Amino acid sequence: MGDAPVVVLGEAKDPLVPVNRESRSFSSPGTLAVRADFPLLAANPDLHYLDSAATAQKPRVVLDAIRDYYETSYANPHRGAYRLSHRATERFHEARETVARFFGVADSATVIFTRGTTESLNLVAASWGGVHLDAGDEVVVTGMEHHAQFVTWQRAAQEAGAAFRIAELTADLRIDLDHLASLLSGKTRVVAFTHVSNALGTINPVAEIVAMVRAKAPRAIIVLDGAQSAPHLVVDVPGLGVDFYAASGHKMGGPMGCGVLIGRRALLEAMPPYQTGGDMIEFVHDDQTTWNVLPHKFEAGTPNAADAVGLAAACDYLSTLGIANVRAHEQALVVAMSDALSAIPGVVVHGPPAAERSGVASFTMAGAHPHDLATILDEHGVCVRAGHHCCQPLMRRMGVSATARASAGVYTTMEDVGALVEGVRAAAGIFVGS
Ligand code: ALA
Repeated sequence: MGDAPVVVLGEAKDPLVPVNRESRSFSSPGTLAVRADFPLLAANPDLHYLDSAATAQKPRVVLDAIRDYYETSYANPHRGAYRLSHRATERFHEARETVARFFGVADSATVIFTRGTTESLNLVAASWGGVHLDAGDEVVVTGMEHHAQFVTWQRAAQEAGAAFRIAELTADLRIDLDHLASLLSGKTRVVAFTHVSNALGTINPVAEIVAMVRAKAPRAIIVLDGAQSAPHLVVDVPGLGVDFYAASGHKMGGPMGCGVLIGRRALLEAMPPYQTGGDMIEFVHDDQTTWNVLPHKFEAGTPNAADAVGLAAACDYLSTLGIANVRAHEQALVVAMSDALSAIPGVVVHGPPAAERSGVASFTMAGAHPHDLATILDEHGVCVRAGHHCCQPLMRRMGVSATARASAGVYTTMEDVGALVEGVRAAAGIFVGS
């Protein structure tokens, strides 16, 4: 969208240039031969980016949408009586509607823009937890949580004097549902878990867990970390039956620093604001303040509207590809990479069978530190993450300090998988002697 016309104020009718949607060109849906849609990947044909669980590369349509917003519609939303500000507000509102539709949410005011999953979870813990958690209550998480879920609720429980309980994992690194069930009771106020493990790719049975929680812990809210499901699985948030769902735009191909918290209206309306400042107030008296309606009550200060527009473009992009196609594509890749990695002497791929995981293969090699594996892979042009993946409690349960993690995205190809396997074989030659 480099040649988009700029706003020219002062013309007779509508001086504002319409949104340039023609710049959104998509590859054929279903094929997922979409590498060319991603400028960084197109410019680096020898790069094998297998770190999509950390962050996804950006399709051109997202970059274009952000630039288009700045070039045609930029002003502070909700604050101006002039037409450019109205345009900015309208684009921000449209972005929220698009994101809401992507997640199957009819009431877009229950979609709160945040900086990402971490802020969304902190919002719930501080706002809902600050009011509702008391001594004697119980908060339940699982042993596979990302620190953003685990630590946030650990601290909220500690501050309230509530007990913090951890559901253990099965030998193949799924949530142990029997153990989880044994932790639930009338004292349970929060059950917080991840839809998909960032470190392993384990896809958790949300419907089964929700049914169990509703039956055994009727006073509990259910908080789902959707950071690793939103980009890869069909997610219908109301259909999941949870109370809160959090996701990060940057893992979906959107910009960094923009994500969502989706919550039940009644809960959000009853919660106090997370932050205070501009736009989230109704009336400010000398002795008290009343709050704006949803979603504004939870969006204090100038919003990150341009990145919300970028996130909406990412949602449109994924929808055009078809999330079911995305899932099928990534499933084929993860099966191929897991089968090939497991066949290399000394290599263990962790977690449930590949076909039941998202596009993540988390692996270790006898005698090799995962950081060394990642460094060798980098020499083969392969980008993977090595470390504890912000999941120290999980690593302890696995009996490892770290893993190397290859994770696929919509743009990943079998050539990327081939380069990974070749690099890991080369590393095995050094560390295992095969
Ligand atoms: N949470 C991100 C990951 O899993 C950063 O790598």
